[in-house]
Amino acid sequence: MKNTSKRVNVARLQEGLQTRWVGRNVFFSREIGSTNEWAKELAGLGACEGTVVLAEIQSAGRGRLGREWFSPVGGLWFSVILRPQLKPAESVRLVFAAGLAVAEALHEQYGLRVETKWPNDVLVNGRKICGVLTEMNSVGEKANFVVVGIGVNVNFDVSKVFPKELQRTTSSLEKECGRQVSLDELLRVLLVKLEKIYESSTLGDFSSVLLEWKKYARFLGSQAEVSTDDGKLCGVALDVDEEGALLLKQESGLVKHVFFGDISTKKQ
Ligand code: BTN
Repeated sequence: MKNTSKRVNVARLQEGLQTRWVGRNVFFSREIGSTNEWAKELAGLGACEGTVVLAEIQSAGRGRLGREWFSPVGGLWFSVILRPQLKPAESVRLVFAAGLAVAEALHEQYGLRVETKWPNDVLVNGRKICGVLTEMNSVGEKANFVVVGIGVNVNFDVSKVFPKELQRTTSSLEKECGRQVSLDELLRVLLVKLEKIYESSTLGDFSSVLLEWKKYARFLGSQAEVSTDDGKLCGVALDVDEEGALLLKQESGLVKHVFFGDISTKKQ
């Protein structure tokens, strides 16, 4: 049997894939700048909904807020092309849909203590293991396509491959499971979850998706600090609303709706 710990075997992935339309087309590269960039190009050329773009290594992987995303061999770095019938502002739903898909997959498949962190992180045992980057292209008042990029730290040791400043806050599946896991199997489970949750999110049941996402959101109810473009905000993280905003209750009693930022909590 071939080693599936470092590379996805696309033929085997598709053989056992129990989706209706996600992952029916897969583009794979040993090394690419960013799967999101590649997916956007393909989407612009008309690639069909559900196309998956996958790389073994990203040389210019991107995170939120223009950050770099380290993407060494052994991780799962992929993007999915979606064409939702949503208004541009509603496409934020897909961030939560993708986060929930990852959280459920990691919890159900590996029995891990998973949590979601606003807006787009998935943590295991308090450390970041996955990030989601969604990018939208719209025509007038309609989303033309959305690329959902998902990066999961899988079969490597962050203390060996990540820069020092990230090592304290990140982890990998290998570390948390105490063994290497099959990238084929993980991707299959993720794509099945994503298809199902995406359909609920876009076909009118986003409230249930958000409710499920919140079940993993351990930061809710905690004292939090949020870094925004306008500086730091402090308060209690009360809730996340259907527009994706974090509701932060400040000391004055005022509840602020925060749309962009990085949250850190004082107690976990
Ligand atoms: C974040 O947490 O800041 C989001 C990270 C998203 C990383 C993934 S890896 C696959 C896709 N391609 C990219 O360049 N970024 C996303």
